[in-house]
Parts: sequence; structure tokens; C-alpha cells
Amino acid sequence: MTASLLRGDLLTGKRWKRSFNNFIRKANALERYDVGLTVKRLATELNVEASDILKLNSNENFFIPLSFLRKCLMEVVEELDPRIYPRDELIELRQAIARLFNLKDENLVVGAGSDQLIELIVNAFLTDGDNVMSIDPTFVIYRRAVRTRGCRFITVPLKRDFSIDTDSIIHLANKAKAKLLFLCSPNNPTANQFDEASIRLILEEFDGMTVIDETYADFARYSVVDWIKEYSNLVVLRTFSKVFGIAGLRLGYAISNMELALALRERFKMPYAVSSVALLMGLKLLGKLDFIMSKVDEAKKARSELIERLEELDKVEPFPSETNFVLFRLNSVSSNKIYRRLLMQGVIVRNLGRVLSFDNCLRVTVAPQPMMERFVEALEVAIEG
Ligand SMILES: Cc1ncc(COP(=O)(O)O)c(C=O)c1O
Repeated sequence: MTASLLRGDLLTGKRWKRSFNNFIRKANALERYDVGLTVKRLATELNVEASDILKLNSNENFFIPLSFLRKCLMEVVEELDPRIYPRDELIELRQAIARLFNLKDENLVVGAGSDQLIELIVNAFLTDGDNVMSIDPTFVIYRRAVRTRGCRFITVPLKRDFSIDTDSIIHLANKAKAKLLFLCSPNNPTANQFDEASIRLILEEFDGMTVIDETYADFARYSVVDWIKEYSNLVVLRTFSKVFGIAGLRLGYAISNMELALALRERFKMPYAVSSVALLMGLKLLGKLDFIMSKVDEAKKARSELIERLEELDKVEPFPSETNFVLFRLNSVSSNKIYRRLLMQGVIVRNLGRVLSFDNCLRVTVAPQPMMERFVEALEVAIEG
């Protein structure tokens, strides 16, 4: 196939060509999502095995042993019939999650990760030109989904201590007649959970729908899931990617009042968006919750140890964390430089650069002790130059 055909040049008709070019121009104006270097690509560049790469840039959960997850997957493979669209599995998973939170399965929408649910909510609530409110910095997918939908993403910066400027958010959101408000709590990348009173105030004063992304809530102090019984304008997002260690399988859920959940499920969501493998794995892991939660405790302990180690390092200032990652800033060293020097040693972290008024910030996933040991050593080497 020729290169020009791949570009769409040979598709017939001038009018089609004009609209195709317009489409490409519009697409190019959207932001690209940078998922970072892949493990295999870095391994090839460094001429090492993929297993030698330390991937600490996406807040995945390495506390759940791979052998355990593979065993669960093998059982799932034995149980499922891949010829059939997932139906019963979806209902059973919704029921199991509902039992966990003492809710009804009608309160739940299951999706292919919270990313898909963010897109679903954006598509369901917004029409061209609508305004959406959020904070800065926060999880970049909200902005991406909103912009792609042809809407405006307005943000209010967090305060210097990463707390939320509630009054400004409410004032601006209502003034802009925002339809949606995304609040990530605990927040990515600042790693802090916002205080309950601020969130309640937003739910009470903001005139639109508030989405609280609780991707990291199990690593923090509290959850607002129960609040859906009090606030009909609240949707809570949760995921199996972080706590359960199955980011690769893509499984998440939204919790809201039944009427909204029903509308999202039956009017907006594609019926078979989540594979039966992911659904059955979710069910299986919910049956092993004590083990999974013991790993969350391990992660919290490792987080404290990592922060202590980072505090001891010259030129490194970690921020407190209520998540499974740690944000830290470098003093008088460029984060670009350190990021590259870590890559040279086979360690991938997230280079954030400036976060509010803090220059040279990096974000690292909390992982089991041997991985953290290697990371800290590599960071020391990188800083020493
Ligand atoms: C705040 C936040 N929300 C949502 C997601 C996406 O989660 P999922 O894997 O369920 O799509 C992430 C992933 O890093 C995240 O940090």
C-alpha cells in the first residue's frame, strides 16, 4: 500500500478531501496523551531485557504478586466461554461491588477502566461549547476528554499546600454555568486527599454534576462513596487498576444515584465494553479482598519508608502522599536531566517539571522494597551526575 493511500489522499472526491483535511486539522489541534516510554522500547535502546526495566511512571500495583494474578487468570480462563458476549458476568460483578459498599447494584456502572467512564460521563452530560470545571494540576484525562468533546476545561489552581480553593471553584463554576466538575481526591499528581468539608461544600453549592475520582482512595483516609445516598449530583469513580493490580485488564466503575446510573448504563454506554475476562477477574479478586487489602497496607508502609529515604537525600524534597505514588521536587537540579539519567539506568518515572510554584518535580510509583531500593540508588547516581 502506498504512503499516499495511507494518508487518505487517494480517497476520491474533492469535497471528501476537504472535509478529511478539516478533520485532520481539528484532530491535530487536540492534545496528544503522552503515555511515556514503553518498557520494550527502553529495553531495546539500552540493550537489556524488558524484565530489567523498572517501570515506576503509571502508579501500577506491584505489591500484588504476578504469580497470584496469573493463577486467578488461569481459573477465569477455565470458567469462561469467550464465544458469548459478557452479560451475567457484568451483573454478578455489579452485585459483588454493591455488597462491598452496602449499595444496590442499580447504583453502579461498570466500564473498561475509569478512563472509559470519564469519557462516558463527558459524552453523556456535555454538548458542544459547554464548560467543565476542575483544579490544576490534576489527572490529565479529564481535560483531554472534555476538549475532545468540543468543550471548555476551566481550572482553579490548588493552593501552595495543595489544598483546594473551594470558594473560587464554586464561584467560577457557577458563573461559567459549568455542567460538570471533576475533582480527583486523592489528587494525581499532588498525592493529597482533599478535606471532607470542602467537598461537601462543593456538592452543596455547585449547580452541576460533581465527579469525584477515587482512584487512590483506598490508600488514603476516607471515601465519599456513601455520600451518593445524600447527594444526587455526585458520581464517584473507582478502579481495579491500582488496588487490585489489574491495570492491564481495564476495569473500573462509577457509583451514583440509581436513576443516573441507569441512564448511563442503558442510554449511553456500549453494552459490551468490558471483556468477560476483566469482569470475571474483578469478581475473583473481590473474593480475595482480605489478601488484596493486606497488600494496600504493605504499600502504605513502603510509601512511608520511601518518603523517609527521599528526605535523607541531598537536593530531594518529597511531598506527603495518600496514594500509591510519591511526588518529589529537586532542588537546584533539572528534573529533565534526572529523568533522562534515570532512563539510562533503566528506571522510568514521570517527569512533571513545574507543579504550581514548584519547579523540577518528578512522580514515582511506590513499589515493593527491592524495587524502591534500586530506584533510590539510581536516583542518587543520577543526582551525583
Ligand atoms: C486519577 C486517575 N483517574 C483515573 C485513572 C485511570 O484509571 P483506569 O486504569 O481505571 O482507567 C488514573 C490512572 O492513572 C488516575 O491516576
